[in-house]
Amino acid sequence: KSRPLDGARGLRFAPVAPNTADKVTVPAGYEQNIVIRWGDPILRGAPAFDPEKQSAKAQAGQFGYNNDFLVLLPLKGERGRQVLFANHEYTDEQLMFPGYDPANPTREQVEIAWAAHGLSVVVVEEDRRTGKLTAVPRHHLNRRFTATTEFRLTGPAAGSDLLKTSADPTGTRVLGTLNNCAGGSTPWGTALSAEENFNQYFANAASVTDADTRAKLARYGMTGGATERKWERFDERFDLAKEPNEANRFGWIVEVDPYDPDSVPRKRTALGRFKHEAAQPRLTADGRPVVYMGDDERFDYLYKFVSSKAMMKGDSRRAREHNLTLLDEGTLYVAKLTGDSPAAQIDGSGKLPNDGEFDGSGVWIPLATGDTSHVPGMTAEEVYVHTRIAADKVGATKMDRPEDVEPSPRTGRVYVALTNNTQRGAAGKAGADEANPRNGNKHGHVLELAEHWDDPAADGFAWRLFLVCGDPEDPATYFGGFPKDQVSPISCPDNLTFDDYGNLWISTDGNALGTHDGLFGVATAGERRGEVRQFLTVPTGAETCGPLVQDRRVLVAVQHPGEVDGASYEKPASAWPDGQGKAVRPSVVAVWRRDGRNIGV
Ligand code: FEO
Ligand code: CA
Ligand code: CA
Ligand code: CA
Repeated sequence: KSRPLDGARGLRFAPVAPNTADKVTVPAGYEQNIVIRWGDPILRGAPAFDPEKQSAKAQAGQFGYNNDFLVLLPLKGERGRQVLFANHEYTDEQLMFPGYDPANPTREQVEIAWAAHGLSVVVVEEDRRTGKLTAVPRHHLNRRFTATTEFRLTGPAAGSDLLKTSADPTGTRVLGTLNNCAGGSTPWGTALSAEENFNQYFANAASVTDADTRAKLARYGMTGGATERKWERFDERFDLAKEPNEANRFGWIVEVDPYDPDSVPRKRTALGRFKHEAAQPRLTADGRPVVYMGDDERFDYLYKFVSSKAMMKGDSRRAREHNLTLLDEGTLYVAKLTGDSPAAQIDGSGKLPNDGEFDGSGVWIPLATGDTSHVPGMTAEEVYVHTRIAADKVGATKMDRPEDVEPSPRTGRVYVALTNNTQRGAAGKAGADEANPRNGNKHGHVLELAEHWDDPAADGFAWRLFLVCGDPEDPATYFGGFPKDQVSPISCPDNLTFDDYGNLWISTDGNALGTHDGLFGVATAGERRGEVRQFLTVPTGAETCGPLVQDRRVLVAVQHPGEVDGASYEKPASAWPDGQGKAVRPSVVAVWRRDGRNIGV
């Protein structure tokens, strides 16, 4: 059915219908281009992409695989140009390499995969007549960070015995970053990136002799023998039986200064170690950054970090140096949420309780401040390195996979994407509560949190569910109270961002409604609050990531196109983006209005 273009300001486009087309589908009147693809050369000397002639050296100068998070930063003095920061979560060897044998990866393939992981900084240039955006190869700010680039561990746990290995007796220098999912951008001009499912790279946890170490590895999902990618055959640091602490050096928030091409990227230990999904700061009234973070695991937690230092304004060298220390000192908290309706009214079906809302109050429980632990029986270093275990001890609320957490720049309200949790209410698992009200939660929900006195550093908050996702015809869904016959279906919310009008944009991963993932916009205030509208859909097997909404342009990272069971380089499940017979390539896409006007007005 067609709807009038009368949505909330910023969302006035004809919603895209759910579909399974093997392409990026955008609203009528909008156009798109591929900004950059896996393998496109960005550094000086890097060759053009040739899937039949890949090498680690080439890949280290080319855009990495599986782009996830995106930030665009201003570039002074270069008209029409911006700095794109992107990350590369993981590799799909079956789709990347001709003739890949999963039982016997070659050293060259493994080294290409190392180089395809990590981060990219690449300057992009806009076409003045359209919204088209293209990469500027060989720009002096362009960089690649891979699984073998040196990173520095900073903050209160840096140098801890728990972070020392035979290659790094200082516990401060790590090679590489792995499984970067979403991230954030700071008001002082740096990019943050979140190390998520790092557990999958570490082998032989089951062979670790010390039972306590084994239990800690298990809490982070490391229990097995060989890994799927078998990197442990080519570098012993991926073998936990030989280097049990190497895994402790992953699972952090990474900070990169894209304006300084010589800067060493940092892993900020003060923000804790877990399967970090994202990290988005907001400033307190006195200028201290507060960073909201989710741990993307079923039954894991929502966190925030409150810095003890205020940001210095301006672009002076002194200000930039000071601001690069803001995420090293402060307090790490975890959230406990309590519903306000009687437990008997939360039956796990998703039926609203008698007060008409899933809502309640919450507290932020401090875990550690600098070198001081607030958790009985754990040192501060232990709290930062084994943050999940600290949060278990203080009784934090087990959530349905906390993914992106985004404070609204307009209202200060904080939105938490809880992507799904099909194990909620299963035998031996926690059942529904008011903040996670559906057992077997397939479609996820979005929680809205209001800090007390609108102070991001507050120790308590009010919360309510903004969206309970799924098919609007399913009675167990809720769209902020908006009439459900006028919204787009949405399933598995993952990444979040805001536009300048205060609308929340949500990208999805794992749509359980039988259609492809996509990007949606929704008003958070006013009479259209809850009116979800679909802006685009992505190709077969892909997840929609990294959404960015500027005045005249929307950017998305199309991650893992063609990732379908049984698909391979020889038998691709998708022909995107280059057509039949060409390699499937994760890519960044820009979308704009043909008439040149702002998005959705
Ligand atoms: Fe990499 Fe939680 O998504
Ligand atoms: Ca209630
Ligand atoms: Ca994600
Ligand atoms: Ca975000």
